[in-house]
Amino acid sequence: KKDNKPKMDKKQEQLEKFKVRDEGETLTTNTGMKVTEDEKSLTAGRRGPTLLEDFHYREKMMHFDHERIPERVVHARGHGAHGTFTCTKSMKEFTKAIIFSEEGKETPLFMRFSPVAGNKGSSDTVRDVRGFAMKFYTEEGNYDLVGNNMPVFFIQDGIKFPDFIHAVKMEPHHDMPQASSAHDTFWDFISQNHETAHMLMWAMSDRGIPRSTNMMEGFGVHTFRWINEDGKSHFIKYHFKPVLGTHSLVWDEAQKISGKDPDFHRRDLWDSIEKGNYPKWEVGVQLIPEKDEFKYGIDLLDPTKLIPEEMVPITIIGKIELNKNPDNFFAETEQVAFHPGHIIPGIDFTNDPLLQTRLFSYLDTQLSRLGGPNFNEIPINRPIAPVYNNQRDGMHRMTINTGQVSYHKNFLKGNDPHESDDEHDYRHLAQKVEGYKTRERSESFDDHFSQAIMFYNSMSEVEKQHIKDAISFELNKCESEEVRQNTVNMIANIDRDLAKHVAEKLDCKVPNVDVKKPEYISPALSQMNTKFTAKG
Ligand code: HEM
Repeated sequence: KKDNKPKMDKKQEQLEKFKVRDEGETLTTNTGMKVTEDEKSLTAGRRGPTLLEDFHYREKMMHFDHERIPERVVHARGHGAHGTFTCTKSMKEFTKAIIFSEEGKETPLFMRFSPVAGNKGSSDTVRDVRGFAMKFYTEEGNYDLVGNNMPVFFIQDGIKFPDFIHAVKMEPHHDMPQASSAHDTFWDFISQNHETAHMLMWAMSDRGIPRSTNMMEGFGVHTFRWINEDGKSHFIKYHFKPVLGTHSLVWDEAQKISGKDPDFHRRDLWDSIEKGNYPKWEVGVQLIPEKDEFKYGIDLLDPTKLIPEEMVPITIIGKIELNKNPDNFFAETEQVAFHPGHIIPGIDFTNDPLLQTRLFSYLDTQLSRLGGPNFNEIPINRPIAPVYNNQRDGMHRMTINTGQVSYHKNFLKGNDPHESDDEHDYRHLAQKVEGYKTRERSESFDDHFSQAIMFYNSMSEVEKQHIKDAISFELNKCESEEVRQNTVNMIANIDRDLAKHVAEKLDCKVPNVDVKKPEYISPALSQMNTKFTAKG
């Protein structure tokens, strides 16, 4: 076991100020009065009832009764750690984002990993997508990159997200099952929404049951924009490649581990850090100049599609190392509030309708999860950049703002927070937007199967067999015959042999579908167990 002293970066120095070491003092109430009895409540006589007057008992119990806050509506179960992002290649030419500005620049970060569907007490090794969320504490504000361990998503538009999550989480009448893909509503949603086909293949592949946290790839999923000091924009896609390689469990292992140690992933991350085997990822981007927006025939705004690495290779620009466990799970991992809208100069959004709709959801949900609008004052969420504005009051306000004036443009205060006139600071990209209001999308959005086919065809025979077995196993939990048949009908659009295998296992019919082979098949997709460098 290595010494786990925190690395004193700027964020750690800030967190130190909030830490309380409960050592050697006399027990007190929350109002500071010394307590003389903490084991027996006050009763009326030796054998009588407990008295309401026992203020110490009441305060202690009241606080305990309110220790839990609402769990996240999705990604409820999670584990996290502190670390450092180090830029290894200056990206100044493409973005003014301070964290990518110069080789060797270090930025503190906190990361949280989380299965999507299960409750807070569910098991780590269930088949699911894993959240891959990062909060970079930069000198110019917090930058949150809220990604997943798969490069695409199930739906193309956030307006469907409540429906999708209602379908994958526990069914409302009996609150089962904890695993997303093992029930009727999951398969009903999938087979009624064919845009899910590509992501379904990833989720049913070995990627759905990772070996451990530090053997998972991460992806930003959406196309984002980088903006440089001249205001020039590039499209980018983020990739995070584990230095230990990408590895999975096999289904039999996943099930057994789940029974023996439901905390398998979080324990492994914790132990790795305690032992000094710090998890590491290489950070890379696919960079696409504005002029190439339509070059690949794949709409960059469609989050159910990726850009194969053979078309746009990944440039490695940095590395992440996780090197410190949290001191307090609740204070840090539970209260951390990620939000794709927390960005810094040099980063901008695209019009991906899933990304656009996420920009509303995270702040909104955190209002209720963290009890009001002041959650950025919680130590783990506090930026290391100074905060100075006229926002005031609200539930759980910690700051004592002083003075008479709390409005912009004033003469009285003489020290009004003014807007920055520095060209470097954040300005939305002056992107031309015009058109009729519409709910229609480009044709590329209607192509639901070509990348699902590309993914399946890029698998080795063993990996294909795992997908066949996974779908047969999970779909077998679906009780509705019609939904099982609908699903086989959908899968027949991806691969006839796959559909036939599942149909035989589940006593369904295979429809005659003319599967259109895509023009391009990416060999880079099948990377399982091929990149083990044994460095760890
Ligand atoms: C968590 C909404 C799509 C990654 C959450 C939370 C909400 C949410 C409400 C809980 C946040 C909290 O309580 O603090 C949505 C909506 C989506 C969407 C509305 C689609 C419109 C995605 C996508 C990704 C993603 C595409 C990955 C690229 C995550 C992660 C977390 C999360 C990693 C957990 C954050 C944490 O560790 O605290 N999402 N999400 N979500 N979401 Fe999404």
